Amino acid sequence: MRIKLLFIASLATIFFSFHLTAQDLKITNLRFEYKTNPIGMDELHPRFSWELQSPHRDVMQSAWHIRVAENDQDLITGKNLVWDSQKISSDKSIQIDYKGIALQSRKRYYWQVKIWDNKGNETPWSESQYWEMGLLSPDDWQAQWIQSVVKENITKPQPANLLHKSFKIDNPIRAARLYITSLGLYEASINGKRVGNQLFTPGWTSYKNRLQYQTYDVTNLIQNGNNGLGVTLGDGWYRGNIGWVTSRNFYGDKLALLVQLEITYQNGTVEIVKSDDSWKSSTGPIVSSDIYDGEIYDARLEQDWTNPGFNDKGWEGVKIINHSKDILISPAGPPVKRAEEVIPVDILRTPKGETVYDFGQNMVGWVRLQIEGKTGQTITLHHAEVLDKAGNFYTDNLRSASAEIQYTLKGDGPEVYEPHFTFMGFRYVKVEGIENPAIENLTGIVIHSDMTPTGKFECSDELINQLQHNILWGQKGNFLDVPTDCPQRDERLGWTGDAQAFASTAAYNMDVASFFSKWLQDLATDQTEDGMVPWVIPNVLSQSNGGSTGWADAATIIPWNIYKAYGDKRLLERQYPSMKSWVKYMETNTGEDGLWNTGFHFGDWLFYSKKDDNDGQSAVTDKYLLAQAFFAYSTDLLRKTAEVLGESDDAKYYAGLFEKVKEMFGKEYLTPNGRLVSSSQTAYVLALQFDLLPENMRQQAADRLVQNIERYNNHITTGFLGTPYICEVLTANGYVDKAYMLLEQKSYPSWLYPVTMGATTIWERWDGIKPDSTFQNPGMNSFNHYAYGAIGNWMYTTVAGINPDEKNPGYKHIIIKPQPGGTLTSATASYHSMHGNIISGWKITGDTITLNVEIPSNTTATILLPQSRIENVKESEHELSTVLDGIHSASQQGNSVMVEAGSGKYQFIYKISK
Ligand code: BGC
Repeated sequence: MRIKLLFIASLATIFFSFHLTAQDLKITNLRFEYKTNPIGMDELHPRFSWELQSPHRDVMQSAWHIRVAENDQDLITGKNLVWDSQKISSDKSIQIDYKGIALQSRKRYYWQVKIWDNKGNETPWSESQYWEMGLLSPDDWQAQWIQSVVKENITKPQPANLLHKSFKIDNPIRAARLYITSLGLYEASINGKRVGNQLFTPGWTSYKNRLQYQTYDVTNLIQNGNNGLGVTLGDGWYRGNIGWVTSRNFYGDKLALLVQLEITYQNGTVEIVKSDDSWKSSTGPIVSSDIYDGEIYDARLEQDWTNPGFNDKGWEGVKIINHSKDILISPAGPPVKRAEEVIPVDILRTPKGETVYDFGQNMVGWVRLQIEGKTGQTITLHHAEVLDKAGNFYTDNLRSASAEIQYTLKGDGPEVYEPHFTFMGFRYVKVEGIENPAIENLTGIVIHSDMTPTGKFECSDELINQLQHNILWGQKGNFLDVPTDCPQRDERLGWTGDAQAFASTAAYNMDVASFFSKWLQDLATDQTEDGMVPWVIPNVLSQSNGGSTGWADAATIIPWNIYKAYGDKRLLERQYPSMKSWVKYMETNTGEDGLWNTGFHFGDWLFYSKKDDNDGQSAVTDKYLLAQAFFAYSTDLLRKTAEVLGESDDAKYYAGLFEKVKEMFGKEYLTPNGRLVSSSQTAYVLALQFDLLPENMRQQAADRLVQNIERYNNHITTGFLGTPYICEVLTANGYVDKAYMLLEQKSYPSWLYPVTMGATTIWERWDGIKPDSTFQNPGMNSFNHYAYGAIGNWMYTTVAGINPDEKNPGYKHIIIKPQPGGTLTSATASYHSMHGNIISGWKITGDTITLNVEIPSNTTATILLPQSRIENVKESEHELSTVLDGIHSASQQGNSVMVEAGSGKYQFIYKISK
């Protein structure tokens, strides 16, 4: 039965719109390149996005009009516009290209937008927004690269470098901007005040090719008369310990600074204070700092050296160095910031007699120390993720990272200290040197890239809610300027495999679009000539460490995921050469036999395996089967990308290549009867997910997958490569019940097993802590590794039911398809998309299901009501079969009702049809 409601619905629309007023339609969340009123931009072809808000259903934008001016006055009066789009008939409200005159260095531009909707409403002009350009050309930099001349021993962590300059201001100022970057990490202060609140600046990129600079509005920090500008430099990623096999000085062995303070006086003249040979250098209280090893700080060495009038006579000079300015870029991604504070839940005395603070949460950042004591007294803080079986402080899994803070008191009253150029992954802090430790002495400071939270998931099972919590904290802990594998041991690298596995889950929890855009540019930059993608990005390992299947495919998988979630076609355009060259690499390395079966591959990393495996229980998947599978998948994503970009010849080529790769997969890894040569869950999952099987063998592959799961007593045995897709594949092939079984499984190996063991983040291994409470091999046992958190994607898409539609990316069209199951009686997710907030939540009471759905204005949705008969469904108390505002059509599709709807809030209630 299909009920066509379109015509009547539009009559209803006309009726309803009669009562509307313009205030019903609002423009909110105006963004410029994913940012609100940013400064220091270098995007020459920026894009605008906004959201529509309306209390009504079925609201679509019918037109938009943007205008841009160089000042607010011109904007408001519509004069001297640098861009006037005119009224454009379009329902596009995200990623709209700026098409005005060429943008100039330092200039601030003001913009506003007004829109019209399909109900005859027109908004007033929005509040004015702005963006400001940074320094677009190397010639804009008058500053010179400078270095401290204080003697150093570059073989170990060094005292932070202090660089200082005094200057005088005699006239009233209108504005001041600080443009700054460094080799190493920097923190700048003016007149005793820290500049901005960004951490780990200038961030981590492929330093030799791309170096970010930051722009700060420091107008309020400058004063009349004497001023002091000081910059502290720490070793950081640049020359500190970094790399898988710990090594120092990867990018260089000396720190350096480039800074330009531009002061505009009220009379319009500009004065520039810049790094040059007039600066002074010294060292201070940071005796050493290192990302892995922590920080040693001696507060007795503090001086008010950035205060106005500080006398730097005794300091040494600086050295000017030659370092490129052509590589300078403005940050595309969000800065790292302090995100939240955690109060310790307990102070423990361990069996060994040590004093240990418990923060109740495995977190990433550091602790703020608040203390009063004697001068010269030293406090030591050690960080650990877990206590051992006996309850003692355990750090073996940090490997060589000492993650230790030493603070020596100056001793003249209350002292407050936070480290500067290091971070730790920890739940427990062991303290030495505090006489009567109190809760107030330590506060946990959580830091991560400042991504806007966008998703929430909740259901009737508390253990699954804790799993969601753990996934989210895995993300908080490992999105620190680059997506890292782990935050605690001597690693913390941008592992590509982990990132691709988790990217789509990450995109639900937080806005990761610009975070990944930045990192993907580094991926493209560090990719070798022949297309090989390094294992880690930025690449701090050897040049030859790359090309592992499922890792290198980050080059294709992540851009596609970001495109789907954010409608970011530009990203696809920019990554296209990198995507192509990765596929080319695989093609080149394919033998005469049509198989990619050479090279080193990590394989299905950390799959279930048994020690002394006598009965073949370990879930091993042939590495070259994996390679052929991901080769096919990347090729298919490239084909889709070519289609989106209108590269039709390429699209044809990659469609053909996909078929060839698939055919050879079949010849080599599939028996004529449909068995895969690796009888692992991962093999069947990937073959189904990546469409590598002939149609007539799909069902039996799904059946074999289920048999395999049953052989392990309904446990998951996949590693990093199979885990992200297993529940999706089961669901798509008629086994949603099995997917729920895996999700709800509590014994090892499973997602909930760590939860039952008290985990507060996702573990690297299914059994980081074994059932007998002993630990896995400390050589590789992180308790904060997000890869297995990739189940989050299925929780949003299938348990709660929020799905993107890749044909209408950025959630312009939404697929709401919840599939209740297992023992759950309710689940709800919300996701704040580029177009606005989406909600899908269901609850089962007796034999009745209630589904609440919210669809943002200017989008449409296909809503699939699980286990429903159309004649039993009520929407907001009306029969679905009657004319309903916002609902375009409803039809029975098997055991579901399919509703095509416009924006608005809907509540469907019906008796479950078995
Ligand atoms: C990392 C990973 C990474 C792996 C490569 C490990 O040391 O922590 O998560 O993907 O190496 O197999």
